[in-house]
Amino acid sequence: MADGQERWAHMRASMPVMRRYAYMNCGWSGPLSDAVVDAMRRRIELETWEGPVARTAMDDKAATTARLRELTARMMNADVDEIALTGNTTEGVNIAVNGVDLKPGDRVVTTTAEHGGGLIPAYWARERRGAEVSLVTVDPDDGHGAILERFDQALDDRARMVILSEITYSTGQLLPLRQITEMAHARGATVIVDGAQTAGHVPIDVRGLGIDAYAVPSHKWLCGPDGIGMLYVRRDRIADLDPVKVSMRAASLYDFEGNFAPERDKVTKFEVSTMSTPTMAGTVAALDAYLETGVQETWDRVRALCRYAEGRFDRIPGVEVASPRAEESRTGLFLFRAGNLDPVILTAYLYGDGDIVVRSVRERAAVRLSLHIYNNEADIDRTAELVERALTEGIPRSYVDAAAHGPRE
Ligand SMILES: Cc1ncc(COP(=O)(O)O)c(C=O)c1O
Repeated sequence: MADGQERWAHMRASMPVMRRYAYMNCGWSGPLSDAVVDAMRRRIELETWEGPVARTAMDDKAATTARLRELTARMMNADVDEIALTGNTTEGVNIAVNGVDLKPGDRVVTTTAEHGGGLIPAYWARERRGAEVSLVTVDPDDGHGAILERFDQALDDRARMVILSEITYSTGQLLPLRQITEMAHARGATVIVDGAQTAGHVPIDVRGLGIDAYAVPSHKWLCGPDGIGMLYVRRDRIADLDPVKVSMRAASLYDFEGNFAPERDKVTKFEVSTMSTPTMAGTVAALDAYLETGVQETWDRVRALCRYAEGRFDRIPGVEVASPRAEESRTGLFLFRAGNLDPVILTAYLYGDGDIVVRSVRERAAVRLSLHIYNNEADIDRTAELVERALTEGIPRSYVDAAAHGPRE
């Protein structure tokens, strides 16, 4: 693999969307590379010309599934028999949260910066099981010390579960997962991580951190297709988490005379029936590219782009950077506010006038750029220049109307 700028230019060239757009929205959904599309196309063609259950297609499906578990395990520092395939991050979080036998009065600790994919399972645990939910305040200006102090208070002797994002989608900050996990485990709580913003972005080390369950998607920073996710469950937790949706994979024995023995020990008990092989093939190609590019190199590069964006946007009068600046918290997610400009309208303007794809984050009244390795400083400059123009000249009325009718976030 080429070094430095050459490596990033190569990644950029492999993303067709970058030929027209400055695409900076992988925190929502990442673009597909030529390699990912080719892998999916090859699988679809195999199914088309051989039939989906021909020997060749079945062998390919088995090999693709095995490779997907293997690459995911490598990315997370886990073993293959600790990886279940899911539909997305939220499904993985749900499997883990609902697998724990929570009792009335048990406390579920989560944060004020969670996505609905983590927060709603916590609220449902309250609704269904009578658990109590504690929300730890998380602000992008907080250092890790302040966040840990709040977790320390929330994690009392009734705490049974922590649900949190390692990187929050709304503030773009990296949380001190190692220390939170140590603290939670010392108090007997299960730690379930929403890794929607982490896979393909930051190095993940589930074994080193001792995490109980960690859910990731294919379609965000990994730049794989949507409709598939991966769930890590620590080997010694698999047996005591009950699967919530079940199929033959959750039976170690069954017949048609009433005999049944539940599968307890295999991580595949969390998987339900048939999955899309083209989608798996695309995810394998995405993981291959990520691991080959370099996990640490990717993490260093996206934060370098974020630092560049901070410097560039700091020079625009009226702009406020809304993502964390501390080295320990900074990620590839960069957020800003521009004077009184409505972030939804500004997002529509950037798209319409600049072919710039970003998103607004309602909760933070900010615009969010997801800076990945196929982005470069020119994408950031182009965005900054248009924001400068919007602040000095205003945004044409047509965008106000478009924002009112288009997809909001
Ligand atoms: C932190 C976080 N959790 C969960 C999700 C939902 O992810 P998925 O579609 O994989 O369930 C998102 C999507 O933006 C997210 O940012």
